[in-house]
Amino acid sequence: MITIIGAGRVGSTAAFNILRYRIGDVVLIDIFENLAKGEALDMMQTAPALEFDGKIIGTNDYSQMQNSELVIVTAGEARKPGMSRIDLMNKNAGIVKSVVREVVKHAPDCKLMIVTNPVDVMTYVAYKTSGFERNRVFGMGNILDTLRFRSYIALELNVSREDIRALVIGEHGDSMVPLAEYASVAGIPITRLLTKEKIDKIINLTVSSGAEVINLKGSTTHAPAAAIAIMADAIVRGRNRVMGVSTVLQGEYGFKDVSIGMPVVLGKNGVEKILELDLSLEARRRLEKSVAVIKECIDNLSV
Ligand code: LAC
Repeated sequence: MITIIGAGRVGSTAAFNILRYRIGDVVLIDIFENLAKGEALDMMQTAPALEFDGKIIGTNDYSQMQNSELVIVTAGEARKPGMSRIDLMNKNAGIVKSVVREVVKHAPDCKLMIVTNPVDVMTYVAYKTSGFERNRVFGMGNILDTLRFRSYIALELNVSREDIRALVIGEHGDSMVPLAEYASVAGIPITRLLTKEKIDKIINLTVSSGAEVINLKGSTTHAPAAAIAIMADAIVRGRNRVMGVSTVLQGEYGFKDVSIGMPVVLGKNGVEKILELDLSLEARRRLEKSVAVIKECIDNLSV
């Protein structure tokens, strides 16, 4: 079973993705009980049309998450136009801490996925609050950035998104590091197909695309909810997929006591392995800057 805490647009849409792609049964928890119940009822009514058998309950009772294999935390304030993810930090750190305490109480053996922003800082808060082993606490961030990176590469080359493979590491935020040197189209490096100018344009679009959606419609929903679903699928089905995930480092890449987006193997045990890549000097410099941004936030947490 998969529990999603937070029945807002991202949490509910992720719950719907998990049901319709037959990833698992869902417990949808929100402090507003009727919101969670209404979302669950609305989704169940699609089942005959979409032919899924998964079950979902909506509740405000944290004890319903017991026996969950995976708990996904989306609760918290969302960014408003003009706000950075970091602006949300202290308010959401308080929410994440209180929610994680309930997770420890009711689902002490679960894998814990953090979505609440700023997700790298919130993942570290969840790790410290839960006392779980670090492989069981991780954040949904760079996989979402990677979906965007892949979309823009496909658009530029006018090829299917399915044939694009790419990686983004670092902060799920303005200092993210899309790795052009590891991006390919059916194995062909994009550096063979695109000029540096075009690649730089794609990288800039990737970095700013979350904020662009927020400026247009107030918040992002479908892309984060899709990213949550593919992470949940990798975990509950033990698929050992390789993707960018916010994970706690204890020496990898020379960093420790920070959670930040890294290429990981994601499977039954959560983060099965952190992959240490050779990085260009430019990518290494950008990663160091990104780590510094997150560490400064962690140090400045007031909760
Ligand atoms: C985004 C939010 C989830 O990038 O951070 O859409």
